[in-house]
Amino acid sequence: METVILDVRKSGEEAIEQAAQLLRRGEIVAFPTETVYGLGAVVWNEEAVRKIFVAKGRPLDNPLIVHIASIQMALPLVREPLDRFQLLARHFWPGPLTLVVEHRGNVPSIVTAGLPTVAIRMPDHPVALALIEKVGEPLVAPSANRSGKPSPTRAEHVVEDLAGSIAAVLDAGPTQVGIESTVLVLTTEPPRIVRPGVVTKEVLETVLGVPIEEVRSDDVNRPVAPGMKYRHYAPTVPVQLFENPEELDQALQGAPERRILILALPQWRTRFQHYPGYRLLSEQTLYETFREADRDRWEAVWILADKEVQRRRGLYNRILKAATS
Ligand code: TXA
Ligand code: MG
Repeated sequence: METVILDVRKSGEEAIEQAAQLLRRGEIVAFPTETVYGLGAVVWNEEAVRKIFVAKGRPLDNPLIVHIASIQMALPLVREPLDRFQLLARHFWPGPLTLVVEHRGNVPSIVTAGLPTVAIRMPDHPVALALIEKVGEPLVAPSANRSGKPSPTRAEHVVEDLAGSIAAVLDAGPTQVGIESTVLVLTTEPPRIVRPGVVTKEVLETVLGVPIEEVRSDDVNRPVAPGMKYRHYAPTVPVQLFENPEELDQALQGAPERRILILALPQWRTRFQHYPGYRLLSEQTLYETFREADRDRWEAVWILADKEVQRRRGLYNRILKAATS
C-alpha cells in the first residue's frame, strides 16, 4: 500500500476532506493532535480498528483511546455516573487529558480490549477536531508509531515507522505538547492517574475537589493500565540518568572519545553546550531526540534528571521508562 502524505499547510480543507473520506471507507489514517500524532480509525469499524493493531504491531490486550470533537459525541458511549466526567471534560477539553469511564456495551471489544471501561479524549488541535467533525463519528487513535518506538511528534516519524502499512498521514507540522495525554481513571475511589502527562495531579485535584492517586507506572511487573506492561518510549541505545550536573560533567570528561547524546534543561545550556551531543531537554523534544539517537547511531543517551525534571511527572515518567526498559 502506498501511504499518501496530505499536507494541511499546503492544501488545508481539501487534505482533511481526503483523510475523512479514507476513514469513512474503512482505511486507517494518521493525524496530528496537540500531544503526538495518532493513528485513526472509525470506532465502529472493527475491521479498520484491527488494521491499527496490525500496522503498529500492537498487542490486542492494550485498549485504545476514543477521540471526539464534542462532549455530546461521547455521551452515547458512556454510562452514568457522569458528574466527574462532565466536570473534568468541561474544564480540560479540548486538551491533553484522557478520561476512563464505564461504557454502555456498544463500543467494540477490540477497542476496549474487553474491559468494561473506555478511554475518551477531545484533542486540542484544529486539524484533529475538523477531521472528527467531517467523519461525523468518534475516531480511535493510539499513537502513530510502531509498538515499542517513541511516539511520533512529526509526520516524518509516522512515515519512518508506518509507511506502506497505512493509507495516509495528515501532516500539520510538529506537535505542541510532545508527550501523550494524562490518563485518569474515574471508576475507582479515589480516581487514579495511570499515565502522567502535562495535566497534573495537583490541577486535577483542585478542579475535582477530591484527592487523586498517582499510580507508579514505571513498575513493569505491576501494570496499572493495560498498556503499561509493554516496553514503551525507549530508544535502542542505552539511556542513563544523572541527578546532578557535576556527576554528568565528570562522566563526560571521562569519556571524551564516546559519542554521547546529552539531554539537559535549558538552564544548563552554558554548562554543556560545548559538547557536540548536547540537546535541549523538554517534553516537546524528548521523543525526537530518542529517534535521533537511534537513527544517527549515538552510543548512548545521558540525561540530566535533576529535581526540576523529577517534578515534571509526565516528562520524568517517559525518561524513567526509557532508562529502565
Ligand atoms: O495523547 C494521547 O493520548 C495520544 C494521542 C494520539 O491522543 N494517544 C495515545 O494512545 O497515547 P495510546 O494508545 O498510545 O495510549 C493509550 C493509553 C494506554 O496506556 C492504554 O493502556 C490506556 O491509554 N487505556 C486505554 N483504555 C483504557 C482503559 N479502559 N483503562 C485504563 N487505561 C486505558
Ligand atoms: Mg502509544
